Amino acid sequence: MKTNRLDIQPLPIGIFDSGLGGLSIWKEIHALLPNESTIYLADSKNAPYGEKTKEKIIEFSKKNTEYLLSKQCKLIVVACNTATTNAIKILRETYSVPFIGIEPAIKPAALQTKTNKIGVLATKGTLSSELFASTSEQFRSSKNIIEIEGNGLVTLIENGEIDATRPLLTQYLSPIVDEGVDYIVLGCTHYPFLIPIIKSIIPNHIKIIDSGEAVAKQTKNILEKNNLINESNNTFQNFETNGNIETFKSFLNQINVQGSSVKFNVF
Ligand code: DGL
Repeated sequence: MKTNRLDIQPLPIGIFDSGLGGLSIWKEIHALLPNESTIYLADSKNAPYGEKTKEKIIEFSKKNTEYLLSKQCKLIVVACNTATTNAIKILRETYSVPFIGIEPAIKPAALQTKTNKIGVLATKGTLSSELFASTSEQFRSSKNIIEIEGNGLVTLIENGEIDATRPLLTQYLSPIVDEGVDYIVLGCTHYPFLIPIIKSIIPNHIKIIDSGEAVAKQTKNILEKNNLINESNNTFQNFETNGNIETFKSFLNQINVQGSSVKFNVF
C-alpha cells in the first residue's frame, strides 16, 4: 500500500531543561515552527543544575538526550544555559543528531549598549564555564560585563514561588543599576518568567534581553539545512516532567498552552 506522506507520524524536536525554564524557549520555537512536533523534558527532580558540578551536569544532559533519542527526536534543543555551557561539546561529540544550545546573549547587548556596561544574570554553573569565559572575553576589552549569580532563583521558580524572588532580585540587581548598566542579559531560561518583577525593580531605560528568539531561529535554520522540516499534518506537543505536574501545568497556562494535541507524562 502506498504511504501518504501526510499520514506519517512526524519525528519530533526534543527540548530539555533542568525544569520549567526551557518552556520559555519551547514557546519561541512553537511560535516560529507551529507545524513541528515537540517533546519537552523537564528534569525538575535534578534542578538546579547551576549549583552542580560540571560532571553532574554532563551526566544529566546525557541522560536527557538519551531519553529524547529513545523517542525518535530528530534534533535536540538544550534549552538550558547551564547545560549548554557545560555539556554541549560532549553531547555533540557523543551523539549524531544536531544540537542547538543556548548561551547568554552577550553579543547583542555588547553591540547596543550606550553606557558600555551590561549585566549578565545567570547561574553559577554558566558563569563559571569555559564557554561563557571565552564568549564574554571577546567583548571585555571595550565593555564592562558585570556578572551576577542568580543563586536561589531557579529553586523558587521550580516551586512556583515567583513572587518570592522579589527580595533576591532586588538584592542582585540594585548594585548593577547603580553601576549604570543599560542592558541586563537573562542568561538562564528560567528567568524570563521573572520579567514582570524585574521590570518593576529596574528603571525603564534599562533593556532586558534573552536568547529565546535567536534559539528558535537557529532551530529553524538547522532543520532547513538538514531537510528535517516536518511535512506531516499530524503534529503533537508532549511535555514530560519528573517534578510536580500541577506546577508544570500552571507554567503551561502562563504561556497559553492548551489544546487536544498537548499531553503530559511523568517520567
Ligand atoms: N534553565 C537553566 C539555565 O538556563 C537553569 C539552570 C539550573 O537548573 O540551575 O541555566
